[in-house]
Amino acid sequence: MSAILLNNIKDVRNNIKAWKKEGFTIGLVPTMGALHAGHASLIKKAKETCDKVIVSVFVNPIQFGPNEDLDKYPRTLEADKKLCDELGCDIIFAPSPKEMYGADNKLSNTEFTFVCPPYNLVDCLCGKSRVGHFDGVATVVLKLFNITTPDKAFFGQKDAQQLFILTKMVKDLNLDLEIVPCPIVREDDGLALSSRNTYLSEEERKNALSISKALKEINSLYLNDVTDTKILFDTAISILNKNIELEYIEFRNFETFEKVEKASKNTLVAIAAKSGKTRLIDNIIL
Ligand code: PAF
Repeated sequence: MSAILLNNIKDVRNNIKAWKKEGFTIGLVPTMGALHAGHASLIKKAKETCDKVIVSVFVNPIQFGPNEDLDKYPRTLEADKKLCDELGCDIIFAPSPKEMYGADNKLSNTEFTFVCPPYNLVDCLCGKSRVGHFDGVATVVLKLFNITTPDKAFFGQKDAQQLFILTKMVKDLNLDLEIVPCPIVREDDGLALSSRNTYLSEEERKNALSISKALKEINSLYLNDVTDTKILFDTAISILNKNIELEYIEFRNFETFEKVEKASKNTLVAIAAKSGKTRLIDNIIL
């Protein structure tokens, strides 16, 4: 059966009301479209554990900075719909910015209510270079939760900081749903799947492979009892291709998000780097 494509909030709510009457559980997979095998894994997981699955496709303007790729971000709704049909998803919710924010232009926090996650969680890693990004993410995700009232929502571990922040939001704001983290999906050669990989030239893609190689080496050193993050950091630096522009390598406790000097179980090792003009992120949890 093919998924129903809905653009407005009222229609989504009507469908959900009918589902709830039947006692169905609802899974939400929030996306910005340009779906790939990573998203497919989230949708499959949602299908396994929920009666009904909604995939939202919305390139959220308020999570993009002024010099970021909002206009260029791939928009492939037809192909996204096909994949959702194949995977048996029930509704694709693809609203316009106007439907979500009542405006076509990008809103700021002087004219719209924003969700602001704790400062120490946003003023680090990706949030350092992407100021306001996580406020935009938390705001849209809370809106999507309010619109779709899911029992479970599925997020990839690739965006580890996003996953941490949203899990915290659910706890702090007493939202009645479960966040389900899903493992990173990689190409055979190790590159973490991302909608932004389509920007990479062959050469840039080859250079970008050094990111997952560095993470893999850190993991194997850790498994051989190397826990000093200085040594692990230096190892990563020696593996990262000289043509990629490193933004950060960070070691954080994935329960508290605090920096760690000694790696241990549940340490998040996160890397952000640019290959050419494309900003890529990847991580592992030891
Ligand atoms: O991870 C993403 O694709 C986006 O940040 C999300 C969660 C769909 C919010 O726009």
